[in-house]
Amino acid sequence: MKIVGGPASQLLASRVASILGCELLGVEYKRFPDGESYVRVLGDIDDILIIQSAVTDGDWVRLLQLIDACEEAKRVRVVIPYVGYARQDSRSHPGEAISARAVAKTVHADEIFTVNIHNQSILKYFSGNARDLDAAPFIGRYVSSLGLNNPIIIAPDDGAKALAESAASNLGIDFDVLEKKRLSGDKVEIKAKHLDVADRDVVIIDDMISTSGTMIETIGLLRRQKPSDIYVACVHPVLVRDAVGRLFQTGAKKIIATDTIEKGVSVVSVAPLIAEALK
Ligand code: R5P
Repeated sequence: MKIVGGPASQLLASRVASILGCELLGVEYKRFPDGESYVRVLGDIDDILIIQSAVTDGDWVRLLQLIDACEEAKRVRVVIPYVGYARQDSRSHPGEAISARAVAKTVHADEIFTVNIHNQSILKYFSGNARDLDAAPFIGRYVSSLGLNNPIIIAPDDGAKALAESAASNLGIDFDVLEKKRLSGDKVEIKAKHLDVADRDVVIIDDMISTSGTMIETIGLLRRQKPSDIYVACVHPVLVRDAVGRLFQTGAKKIIATDTIEKGVSVVSVAPLIAEALK
């Protein structure tokens, strides 16, 4: 098997290649004068693994170009560590696009892997056998390695409950869940609930941090209950605009994230998770 690392997942692809002892194929990327992108995979295209997160529209196009470039291969497997548009997974008003479905339908491969996709129901729209991998135990192990003071992992809403449970499992760490209501694109309201966090280190976990509105609201609520330090953790560090600065201003001690999106806060690698799934 040979690995093609897309432009959004260069580090991750090289980490997976190094764990599996596979060759990384070179790719030529160019842009035409009108802005259209050009992709050419260099080398022997036979049994191929493409790794490319789809954070931006351009990333989606590059992913489709890479899959198409490998059309002749006897097997093409695709890892999309971060599936952008996954939050648009249902219709709230008539005429709205279910964008998660629209983009997933364009991906055709023998096998498709995602990591903590926002909603597992999206997997059925991919053309190919699709499977979601869970990075939460890796985040849990990292949290455990920090030697925190009687830590508790907290999910801001029910959607992140499984993540908190999975991160805490087998580590003897407590977890709990809050209740969130989204008011607008960057405003959320989290319901107060008494939790046993006084003098304990708290780790708030979510599948992704985008504007950081959810985390900031959760930090504000928890601080009233006098915890020690507050850490924020996510699988996908989307971190738009001034999300990082706002998190630190609000009192987060550290941001813990994985390399599904390669950022400075990506201290946990999902490469071993992907490598294990491919074996
Ligand atoms: C929402 O359902 C997700 O799980 C995250 O809670 C949300 O997308 C985080 O976005 P933001 O950082 O903008 O609050």
